[in-house]
Amino acid sequence: MKRKFIAIFIIIAMLSAVLCGCGDKAAEQTEYIGIISAMENEMDILLKEAEIDRVDTVAGVEFHVGTLRGQPVVITLAGIGKIRTASGVTAMFEKYPISKVIFTGIAGGVADDAQVLDEVVATRLLEHDYGIITNDGFEWRSGNPGFGDESGEYYYCDEQLVDLAYEASVQVIGKEHTHKGTIATGDQFVASEEYVKSLKENYDAYACEMEGAAVAVVCAKYEKPFVVIRALSDKADGNAHESYGNFGDIAASNSGTIVLNMLESIGKQAG
Ligand code: ADE
Repeated sequence: MKRKFIAIFIIIAMLSAVLCGCGDKAAEQTEYIGIISAMENEMDILLKEAEIDRVDTVAGVEFHVGTLRGQPVVITLAGIGKIRTASGVTAMFEKYPISKVIFTGIAGGVADDAQVLDEVVATRLLEHDYGIITNDGFEWRSGNPGFGDESGEYYYCDEQLVDLAYEASVQVIGKEHTHKGTIATGDQFVASEEYVKSLKENYDAYACEMEGAAVAVVCAKYEKPFVVIRALSDKADGNAHESYGNFGDIAASNSGTIVLNMLESIGKQAG
C-alpha cells in the first residue's frame, strides 16, 4: 500500500513538472532583454532600479529576472574575462527566450580622443589576444575564420542597438563624450602604452576590455542582436590601475544609466 502511494506521488510530481515546465525555456511566455556585466559595480544601478521577481542559478551564474523601465529583463553578472562571459551568455540563451542582448561595463580607452568617463559604443569587436606564439613573438590570428565578418576578424553589433545606445549616451553624457568604434577584447587588463599603441595601429581600436567579443561570438551563434557599451575608467596605460581605482565605479554607474535610457526608448518605440 505504502509503495503504491509513493508510486502515485512520483507520477503526479513528474506530470506536474512536465505540465508547468518548472521555469524551462519552453514554458516561458515572455521575451526578455538580456543585460550582462562582468562586475558588481557594473550592474549595481540596474539591480537597484529593477523590480526583480526571482533569481535563478544556472551553471553557477545568477540570473535576476524581472522588469526594468517597463521592459522584461534578465540581468546577470557573468564574471570577468571571455570564458566566464561565454559560459554565462550561453546559459542565459539556453534558459530564457531572449530578444536582444546589451552588455554594459567599463573599459580602457585606446583612441587618442577617448577620455576617461567617455562612453564607447562598440560597432564591432575582435579578440586581440587570439593567435600563435613562436620564438619570433605573438602573431595575431582570427578566432573564427569565415564567421562574423568574412575574414572572421570582427564581430558586428546590431546597427539599431548601436544607434539606440549612441543616442542614449548622447542624452546622458553629451555628444562630445560619446564615441562609436571598434572594441578590442582580450583576457588581460591592459596597462601599457606600448600595447595600447599596437591596439590602435593594428585593429583601429577605440577601447579595450575583457568580455565584449565573447558576448559577440555567442550572440552570433544564437543569431541574436547585441550591443556592447563601455564607459572608460582609464586609458590602458601605465596609470591604468590608479585611474581604474579612482573612476571605475563612476564609469560603471554611468554606463548603467545609459542602459536605463535605452530601455526607456525601447518602451517608447513599442508604444
Ligand atoms: N577594463 C577597464 N579598464 C581596462 C583595461 N585597461 N584593460 C582591460 N579591461 C579594462
